[in-house]
Amino acid sequence: YNSNLGLFLSAIILLKPSFADNINGESFPSNFIFGASTSAYQIEGAWNEDGKGEGVWDHITHVSNISIADRSSGDVACDSYHKVDEDIAMLKHLGVDYYRFSIAWSRIVPNGNVSQGVNLPGVMYYLRLLEKLERENISAMVTIFHYDLPQALSFPTMFIDENYNSLYVDYARLAFLLFGNKVKYWITFNEPQGVCTSFLEKYSTKPGTDSYTCTHNIIKCHAMTYWMYDSDFRDDQKGQVGIVLNTNWDEPASQDAKDIEAAKRKLLFEVGWYAHPLVFGDYPDEMKTRIRLYTFPWESSRLPKFTDEEKSLIKGTLDFIGLNHYSTSLVSDAPDPGLFRTYEKDLGILKTYDPSWEKTSLDWFYVVPFGLRKILNWLDETYKVPIIITENGYVEDGSPFLDDDRRINYYQTYLSNVLDAIYIDHVNVIGYFTWSLMDNWEWTSGYTQKFGLYYVNFSSPTRDRLPKKSVAYYKKVLKTRRLV
Ligand code: NOJ
Repeated sequence: YNSNLGLFLSAIILLKPSFADNINGESFPSNFIFGASTSAYQIEGAWNEDGKGEGVWDHITHVSNISIADRSSGDVACDSYHKVDEDIAMLKHLGVDYYRFSIAWSRIVPNGNVSQGVNLPGVMYYLRLLEKLERENISAMVTIFHYDLPQALSFPTMFIDENYNSLYVDYARLAFLLFGNKVKYWITFNEPQGVCTSFLEKYSTKPGTDSYTCTHNIIKCHAMTYWMYDSDFRDDQKGQVGIVLNTNWDEPASQDAKDIEAAKRKLLFEVGWYAHPLVFGDYPDEMKTRIRLYTFPWESSRLPKFTDEEKSLIKGTLDFIGLNHYSTSLVSDAPDPGLFRTYEKDLGILKTYDPSWEKTSLDWFYVVPFGLRKILNWLDETYKVPIIITENGYVEDGSPFLDDDRRINYYQTYLSNVLDAIYIDHVNVIGYFTWSLMDNWEWTSGYTQKFGLYYVNFSSPTRDRLPKKSVAYYKKVLKTRRLV
């Protein structure tokens, strides 16, 4: 009997697929949601129309000396402010369950401060969009803040000075009030880690401190918004509130204990910085210890502390984790960077890439499909909160623009790892959104880098859209709910 049991068990072990296998034959669960993503500044244009206030990116592209690859701006972008019907026709053609878009704060609240006035035409734009989506049976996932702060609240005020937090919460309340009956998933912040590091560096007055202060305030803004939704809107609107965090998968560059630790540290400093407080009520111990270690003993740590009251406010404030994931890196421990610490120095890692990985047109971006499965597993084991992949997609720099076979390959291989995560690893991942519905304004890369399923002709005044080959692919996946 025992030996039969042994045989039986080893058969199971042998049959269990390894990490390298994939099970493309499985179909996505019937309640798995598929969508496509965009963000306001990257697609809307109409930067000063109908009473919209100036946003920080209007300011950056018009007057600052921050360099943009093609010296362009999002002044017109995809002109989505005037092309709601065309955008919806594309979504409908794809057959998505959801559209993820963001609200431009300064379009509905020109000065950022709700008590100083709300811009009705801006409100109408989003109401119309939501109504039309509903009519087409497409649900909405809405990002409240996707990088485009009203210039009136520009750094170093918002997110650096805690007194400004209430302005964010007022704006979020307005969004819930106006649009909440048509929104199932709310995202408070898109990639706050990017806001508080690379973006903030350009404005920083106290390098080495501001990133931590910024995150501290964003975490509190998120939590206040979460509870406000919970007490005033959830019963009627029945939506979910989460945050979107961005991360590569970080593979240790060697089996050296220091590199293994560095790869783990990278995830904790990037994702754990936000997710630990929002799930468990405080920063990861590794962050607290490391930042304290590199602070003079007579100074208080550059990583702010949450009071007990704040800990209970922030703990358990994620209905889901939104994951923006594109690529993977090899991480090793950096040599001691000395004094005058910044977030980057505290993190203390070096990134490299495996030469066998397929490169894309962006220097940080390699095609490493297994990375998605690994980061999904890490998030699921660490936080046990439902995960939605809010962005994933392939970039190229333009040609050939309609025959995007590399993009199809990217979706095919990454989605196959999502299936593996669901069926082999039993990860609680409940949705997948492509970045992006269409080519758009890619921040400091301007229009040079293209992520779209649809091509947009930026040299034509009418900003015509054309489906790339990947449209037919994604459409088929959504229709059959299988990988083809
Ligand atoms: C992250 C951001 O949320 C989005 O705005 C950006 O365009 C994509 N990733 C691609 O870099």
